[in-house]
Amino acid sequence: MYTAAILTMSDACYASKREDKATPAVREILINSGFEVVESALLPDEKELITEKLSLLVSKGYNLIVTTGGTGFSARDVTPEATLMLGGRRADGVAEAMRTNSMRYTPRAMLSRGVCVIVDKSVIVNLPGSPKACAENLEFVIEPLKHGIDALSGAVTECARK
Ligand code: MTE
Repeated sequence: MYTAAILTMSDACYASKREDKATPAVREILINSGFEVVESALLPDEKELITEKLSLLVSKGYNLIVTTGGTGFSARDVTPEATLMLGGRRADGVAEAMRTNSMRYTPRAMLSRGVCVIVDKSVIVNLPGSPKACAENLEFVIEPLKHGIDALSGAVTECARK
């Protein structure tokens, strides 16, 4: 069983002006993919708060930390910058794969600036905010991501395809 946390960024949801439908959408995919979702949290689009929370989640050693929202072009969209503040190792291929696959659904997929990084024992993946976009992105990468997590944890030591 892999462990995961979900961190959702939305000023509107945080202010109770909109229902958070992204967290349940992500939770369902993670559970169906063999993850235990240990915790989830909702934050406004504030860079320092996001970095602080991500840092706390990383310190708990979760295999996967999925963020939703705050990846677009608006001035308040700062999730990628907050994620990169943690340093770590970039896993650009994951973010590129999500964007490329998502172009099948909408050319606006190119507007997500989401990143994927490995920090200590955790993989952090930024998803866009809409529940539909969350599903379209996460479902495409979740199986290969599990292999990456296995490599990170030392559960597999070689990547040879059978
Ligand atoms: N990716 C998929 N698969 N499906 C979508 O509907 N929406 C795009 C993009 N990625 C979308 C998507 C749009 S319209 C935006 S603005 C960006 O994600 C950023 O979304 P965010 O600001 O909610 O993070």
